[in-house]
Amino acid sequence: MSNTLPRYIGTPLSPTATRVMLLGSGELGKEVAICLQRYGVEVIAVDRYAHAPAQQVAHRSHVIDMNDGSALRELVLRERPDYIVPELEAIATGALAQIEDENLAQVIPTARAVQLTMHREGIRRLAAEELKLPTSRYAFAGSLTELSAAIEEHIGYPCFIKPVMSSSGKGQSMVRQADEIPVAWEHACSGGRVDTTRVIVEGKIDFDFEITLLTVRALDEQGRLTTYFCEPIGHRQQDGDYVESWQPQSMSHLALERAQAIAATVTTALGGRGLFGVELFVQGDTVWFSEVSPRPHDTGMVTMISQRQNEFELHTRAILGLPVNTGLLSPGASAVIYGQCDATGIAYGNMAQALLVPNSEIRLFGKPVSFVKRRMGVALAADEDLDVARQNAREAATQVRPIAV
Ligand SMILES: Nc1ncnc2c1ncn2[C@@H]1O[C@H](COP(=O)(O)OP(=O)(O)OP(=O)(O)O)[C@@H](O)[C@H]1O
Ligand SMILES: [Mg+2]
Repeated sequence: MSNTLPRYIGTPLSPTATRVMLLGSGELGKEVAICLQRYGVEVIAVDRYAHAPAQQVAHRSHVIDMNDGSALRELVLRERPDYIVPELEAIATGALAQIEDENLAQVIPTARAVQLTMHREGIRRLAAEELKLPTSRYAFAGSLTELSAAIEEHIGYPCFIKPVMSSSGKGQSMVRQADEIPVAWEHACSGGRVDTTRVIVEGKIDFDFEITLLTVRALDEQGRLTTYFCEPIGHRQQDGDYVESWQPQSMSHLALERAQAIAATVTTALGGRGLFGVELFVQGDTVWFSEVSPRPHDTGMVTMISQRQNEFELHTRAILGLPVNTGLLSPGASAVIYGQCDATGIAYGNMAQALLVPNSEIRLFGKPVSFVKRRMGVALAADEDLDVARQNAREAATQVRPIAV
């Protein structure tokens, strides 16, 4: 069924319904669900816990362990979605591949893309060894001894050690000298998503800035699959997690061309339709591929204020075979609002004050449980002057007061 298209969009909750099943129902899935709802698509939101953000705006929701292949398959057989849209990495990808093979549903962008990108080894070997894209030096290791040898003989210092399956900086650390390796190894082994003792070690790239290049594979007017790029998004990471992002990030013409060429190559290799977040490091005119998400990207939340069609709308349109426009509306910025406390059912104070910041918007995700460092919302600001936009997004985010009640 890959690349089949609906000839129409049906009526939700009727026999003609066009059904989408979201696997993962966080803040990114919530925005995709809202976009799908606007087209009258029937949305089924799945997560491992109840009342996840996207479940609050879906027609139906289910709580399952998405790593459990038979539970996933059973749910797909019950719901019979037209499209399966993964929103996170921790999914039984074997079951997805089988579902795709049997034409039970179309996996966005493809089951293979989801499988390759969930694992740092899969995507890194594809990018560096098959596609010959520039990346940091890297090696994989399955033990402390192997890791130390790889660093000493091949990678050097400083370097990053990451579990092969993790996201948002979990289990990741930077190592500057040999005596720091054992702690980094332990941290990676306990911080991964699944219990594995395999890590990637990457030489540190001394970049001027890093970007996310949102890349869309969608149909053009002639119905041909085409690659579209958004303006580059700059972002700042703290402990491997994004804290603010802005669009457009200015860069040299040559660096942008190279970034787009890398993004086109890797997304074409992954295939299917949808939006991808291609993470790149830039130093002058030199560009390195870092990693890619086959779905909307957290740093891309800025597009909710900076583009007419934000990354969620672009993903939705690409999935449904509709035309896309990746143009910029206004320079803009986003700043993360953290929970700042460990509590259930928190309240958000000082919202009026936050929204007095010029041209600002706030999104609260509605997550049932807050942690100090959990992303609970995002502040957005637009301004012709990007520095003003960034300052205003930070200011609006700072004004919001999460309160444990
Ligand atoms: N080889 C490297 N050289 C320089 N900086 C790096 C390198 N690897 C990672 N970083 C820094 O750490 C950040 C997080 O790394 P990476 O994207 O690999 O982790 P992640 O867990 O997948 O994070 P996320 O899920 O938020 O994208 C990068 O955005 C970059 O700032
Ligand atoms: Mg990343």
